[in-house]
Amino acid sequence: MQAQAITVSAENLLLTSGSQQALDLVARVLIEPGDVALVELPSYIGGTAALHNAGAELVGITMQEDGLDPALVAAQVARLRQLGKRVKLLYTIPNFQNPSGITLSAIKRQQLLALAVQENFLIVEDDPYGELYFDAPPPPAIKSLDCHDQVIYLASFSKILTPGLRTAWVIAPALIAERLERAKEAADLCSSMLDQAIVAECCHQGLLEKRLAYLRDFYRQRCHAMLNALSTYAPADTWWTKPTGGLFVWWELLPHCDATALLPAAVEQKITYVPGAPFFVTDAKPYSLRLAFSKESPPRIAEGIARLCTLLNSTS
Ligand SMILES: Cc1ncc(COP(=O)(O)O)c(C=O)c1O
Repeated sequence: MQAQAITVSAENLLLTSGSQQALDLVARVLIEPGDVALVELPSYIGGTAALHNAGAELVGITMQEDGLDPALVAAQVARLRQLGKRVKLLYTIPNFQNPSGITLSAIKRQQLLALAVQENFLIVEDDPYGELYFDAPPPPAIKSLDCHDQVIYLASFSKILTPGLRTAWVIAPALIAERLERAKEAADLCSSMLDQAIVAECCHQGLLEKRLAYLRDFYRQRCHAMLNALSTYAPADTWWTKPTGGLFVWWELLPHCDATALLPAAVEQKITYVPGAPFFVTDAKPYSLRLAFSKESPPRIAEGIARLCTLLNSTS
């Protein structure tokens, strides 16, 4: 946590079986049926599903190119309060967000935290991608600014070491951490000791730092290949994000396109993507989609984008 400038002591820290378990535990512990959870539009489906399963009413807030607009969040909070609703938390993925690749700006982090303190709701800061920056680190974690115990911070070894070792961590105010620990005991007693021992050894031997350097370069090349190919081939008037880290580019096609309907034809061309609609809890954009640059080589990424654009042009 030194890299994130987050001060942490044992009473605030809990190891979990992946961040997905942390999301599930946070939702179980904090949400009472009917509580409102504010979420980004679009957002990570595993996060919104955990909140939904715990009985939260999910209220979506549209993101801008530099993340959530604190003024929009404030307006939603005021509207919901007037309706007599309890706004319990804001769920945000501030760095290279899944699915959009968007990063929340430094100033908006400060403003959102100030709003959370003023309006007394918690921020759940889900940060599995922050270390996967290409050139410069993202702005400081919201948790690193948190003097009022308002933020619950989640991070994971899944994307920076390997997803198979189900090892992640959550940093929470002591009282919440204690409740999370009790909920975890009820769920699985404790996470795999073998997985944790392997992760610890990788850290001690300096493998994590080496792997991070490798991954940053690996994903930087692939992201650039994707962005260059989109600039070359994408149909006019479509819009896509320009991530500075992470694994994903978000692409908004022309409003009459349906990314879900288009998928089978894309798969026939041996290309795949994730349609955007399921990432929205409300106000879905059926013409959006998530592209991953995490796997294929730069030339194959360029070829895939070219084929997808040919398909788009032939169907429009
Ligand atoms: C934003 C976000 N949070 C949490 C998770 C879950 O991560 P883990 O593999 O650590 O459970 C993911 C996985 O894709 C994710 O994208």
